[in-house]
Amino acid sequence: RSYRVAVAGATGAVGNMMIRVLEERGFPVEDLTLLASSRSVGRELTFRGRSIPVRELREDSFKGIDLALFSAGASVSRKFAPLAARDGCVVVDNSSAFRMDPKIPLVVPEVNAHALESHPGIIANPNCSTIQMVVALKPIQDAVGIRRIVVTTFQAVSGTGKKAVDELEAQVRDLAEGRQPRCKVYPYPIAFNCLPHIGAFLDNGYTEEEMKMVNETRKIFEDPQIRVCATTVRVPVYYGHSESVAVETRKPISVEEVRNLLERAPGVTVVDRPKENAYPMPIHAAGKDDTFVGRIRRDESVENGLALWVVSDNIRKGAATNAVQIAEVLVERGWLGF
Ligand code: A2P
Repeated sequence: RSYRVAVAGATGAVGNMMIRVLEERGFPVEDLTLLASSRSVGRELTFRGRSIPVRELREDSFKGIDLALFSAGASVSRKFAPLAARDGCVVVDNSSAFRMDPKIPLVVPEVNAHALESHPGIIANPNCSTIQMVVALKPIQDAVGIRRIVVTTFQAVSGTGKKAVDELEAQVRDLAEGRQPRCKVYPYPIAFNCLPHIGAFLDNGYTEEEMKMVNETRKIFEDPQIRVCATTVRVPVYYGHSESVAVETRKPISVEEVRNLLERAPGVTVVDRPKENAYPMPIHAAGKDDTFVGRIRRDESVENGLALWVVSDNIRKGAATNAVQIAEVLVERGWLGF
């Protein structure tokens, strides 16, 4: 059978990619409803070669819809996702609104699809940086347990949305042509710079993005003991987040074993031939759905230490693809539709 699907935030960077991924993966869509703010009414987007008008997201938008993929920000999700769920629609929400709600599953299908067994009509898609990290670390967690993670991210501007992609492009042009770069989205220029600042700063000195990586990793691994120290950095890259990940495992494991586990892991591609200059990079990961892992080596500063480099397309696996994969699991198990 096929399903009536809605995308809320269809005109945004992630919403647009959700439409593409539904198309590419042949998701059984009977009818696609595209929703955004009133500003976008009059626009049309294509799905399977057909033009579909964008409608205004409203309280009654979800009547008769089986599945809604939300990516219009946390406040929109907070308001509309419960209304959609009340109308019998299953929501996969890409915002941070419900991720840490204990009743709501936070799911990366390769890692914890089982958490989908019970949900109150809303399922949360994790933060982009968390998704690619847990995909890469899941085989290690299963094999030997993880005690501690120290991660630094190098995050693409597309994670902030379309307006940030435009801002980087405009700043590169401004600087190349000798003008002052204009900053609207970020507090400083992102062109030719790095900003150790993603999300608001909290009282503990970390940012919201850093604490998402701490809390979401614990929830997805169902391991509140796991210790995570994150530094999240915005870099002048359009698509693809990179992460330097140092892991301390509970039991010893060799680099060879880790490489073998990762080569067999779902959703992972190992690119690790450093002598041939083969390692993952955003320019190669962009446009792909896998999580790429390389630079697999010992962290010689602790007893059971490993160091990895993990790259993935933040708009795809970090957002749209993961959301569609969640919906695919619901379909496979017969949990979608009236
Ligand atoms: P719109 O294009 O009409 O503003 P991005 O993260 O790339 O900036 O995209 C955000 C998405 O969320 C866009 O599709 C945007 O629609 C949508 N959006 C933002 N605010 C609202 C709102 N209040 N109601 C509905 N959609 C919204």
